[in-house]
Amino acid sequence: MIKKIELTKKLIANSSSIFMCPICGSEMMINKFMSLFCRNRHNFDLSRQGYINMLLKQVKSDYDKKMFESRNMISKSGFFTPMLNLISNLILEETLKNKMVNSNILDAGCGEGSHLSRILMNLRENRSINFSGVGIDISKEGIRLASREYMNIIWCVADLSKIPLKNDQFDIVLNILSPANYGEFNRVLNNQGLLIKVVPGNNYLIELREILFKGTSKQFYLNNRVVQHFSDNFKIINKQPILYKVNLNNENIEHLIKMTPLVWNAEKEKLEEIIRTGIKNITVAFEVIVGKK
Ligand SMILES: C[S@@+](CC[C@H](N)C(=O)[O-])C[C@H]1O[C@@H](n2cnc3c(N)ncnc32)[C@H](O)[C@@H]1O
Repeated sequence: MIKKIELTKKLIANSSSIFMCPICGSEMMINKFMSLFCRNRHNFDLSRQGYINMLLKQVKSDYDKKMFESRNMISKSGFFTPMLNLISNLILEETLKNKMVNSNILDAGCGEGSHLSRILMNLRENRSINFSGVGIDISKEGIRLASREYMNIIWCVADLSKIPLKNDQFDIVLNILSPANYGEFNRVLNNQGLLIKVVPGNNYLIELREILFKGTSKQFYLNNRVVQHFSDNFKIINKQPILYKVNLNNENIEHLIKMTPLVWNAEKEKLEEIIRTGIKNITVAFEVIVGKK
């Protein structure tokens, strides 16, 4: 059986032309040691785990290994499945409508990679179209987990405000619950491409917020400014709300608390109380916004 790392090497070697040097902007090639390099001798190695680190300076992220592991567990429990199915259907519809045989998808701010992996798994059921995926995130911990768990996708540590990928390469850019850089999304998307952004709906995890932040401004969330910022940069062609309830067992309540930035400023005692008593049903609410250049 071919080793996982060999398959990753092959995938990256076949795709080296999509990269752009994050230092000087020139084309990148790959050498026999599996390093990406440009004509100005800027060099980025493929890690033993099978990802490429193209960050110029390592950043200290608020998202640590434990957080990504919990996010991965929650994702595997099916928590995000309705949202991921909706996105897969939107992409498939668009691809079929345009009679495409290849479709390149970038997930910008992919975290631990489970969303891109699930979406590609859904899409690859359709064997007449060749879907390929690249996931980038500024967190090495997130990308390391992604490359360990999910094959047949290029994983890259990179800053989405300086994407090390060439112009007009992608048919789809995904930006799920992550910060955006619309200038960069515009640059890497081709003219027909779609930007699909997921933002929390106003009632996302409302039960958690009611317990943690009752009586403060944090109890409520409005996504209107984020949506406005999107529409200032891309033409919104579709906006779909998603709302459902999820039943969480005690183990998953703990993972939910560990995975969400929402709890970063919460009181420790309140978090412990939630873990002790549990929350029966939790509201999951997203808005999936689709835009064009
Ligand atoms: C709430 S997490 C969402 C991750 C994933 N999309 C998900 O839904 O599970 C936000 C992600 O944005 C990433 N991020 C924040 N700033 C970034 C930047 N400048 N470039 C790339 N990724 C960034 C974080 O590392 C983190 O993985």
